[in-house]
Amino acid sequence: MQKQLTDRFGRVHDYLRISVTDRCNLRCVYCMPEEGMEFEPEERLLTFDEIAETVRVLAGYGVRKLRLTGGEPLVRKNIEQLVEKLGAIPGIEDIALTTNGIFFAAKAERLRAAGLTRINISLDSLRADRFRLITRGGDIRRVLESVEAAYRVGLDPIKLNVVLMKGLNDDEIDDFLKLTLERRVQVRFIEYMPIGHNDDGWRSKYVPLSTVLERCEANGWHPQPSGEVYGNGPSQNFKLEGAPGGFGLIHPVSDHFCETCNRLRLTADGNIKPCLYWSDEFNVRRYIGDDEALADMFFRALDVKPQNHEMAQALAGESQTHIPTVRRMSQIGG
Ligand code: GTP
Ligand code: 5AD
Ligand code: SF4
Repeated sequence: MQKQLTDRFGRVHDYLRISVTDRCNLRCVYCMPEEGMEFEPEERLLTFDEIAETVRVLAGYGVRKLRLTGGEPLVRKNIEQLVEKLGAIPGIEDIALTTNGIFFAAKAERLRAAGLTRINISLDSLRADRFRLITRGGDIRRVLESVEAAYRVGLDPIKLNVVLMKGLNDDEIDDFLKLTLERRVQVRFIEYMPIGHNDDGWRSKYVPLSTVLERCEANGWHPQPSGEVYGNGPSQNFKLEGAPGGFGLIHPVSDHFCETCNRLRLTADGNIKPCLYWSDEFNVRRYIGDDEALADMFFRALDVKPQNHEMAQALAGESQTHIPTVRRMSQIGG
């Protein structure tokens, strides 16, 4: 292997999140505006070959883990072909998917056969009516079918992402925790992040994740920190006594995890984003075909990666919550 992708703060990057499209079949309230968004024209999206080329060069510098995100990655046609191409790249060990689960059941076998190793499914409510409200029209039955399909094809453990929002789903914390007592799922509670939102809309719905531990205490449940490491993400993991499943807390707002950040992001239109909450971007397209120039660009991206993002200050009211990123969450892929 050539030298590692180390930044100015000594963080080694071995994980790439690849947004394969900015389109989505849903419009979750925390992610997209009600009126929808203008999407990138198809010709601006990286082709599967361009993505694979980018990954091949990164793998030479130690990238081992990939995650496909969107928008919704499964709206991109023949995505299993991309999974197969990526799996064939020497050095790549892990190909995960973050999906809203609407289209997964129908593609589960094909994706698994192509080399998919892990799945994270967004499920912000266990109640059909609320789920419809939060996703602006989504049918929870299709997501639940996808969860079963993921078990069927042997993707284990399945992670369920729950963005907590005041007055929308924060009274379902107990139900999600009970689910971990029944099934081998990893529920991950995520703090609502301000990204492209106006200040008030976000602040009034934000729930700190200390609430989850308070609910455990109120129920007499004793969560134990779980040593099992499921994946490469920022989640702090716990388990209730005797539970086949577990739960995780992802708190980018109240307590950021930037010091252990190991990831780069590739947007659907071909930009490397060194940080979710930073506006600097580097376009890969012009360098594809010249491995050295491409590698040089990755190191330049690492050189401007900030030590941490500005959300903590924003929450304390010390700066605006309009962080200097021009993209919405659906254009970055989380
Ligand atoms: P694994 O643990 O490998 O399964 O992945 P993950 O938790 O990184 O992936 P997922 O796509 O499920 O992301 C869960 C949530 O964590 C999303 O809301 C992401 O936006 C958030 N997240 C992931 N990485 C970062 C990061 O580097 N910074 C911030 N602020 N949030 C992140
Ligand atoms: N805050 C927190 N999480 C978000 N996601 C999308 N938008 C936000 C936000 N504003 C989550 C999705 C998905 C993951 C990739 O990011 O629910 O699970
Ligand atoms: Fe689509 Fe995911 Fe955003 Fe929901 S969170 S609108 S499913 S991209």
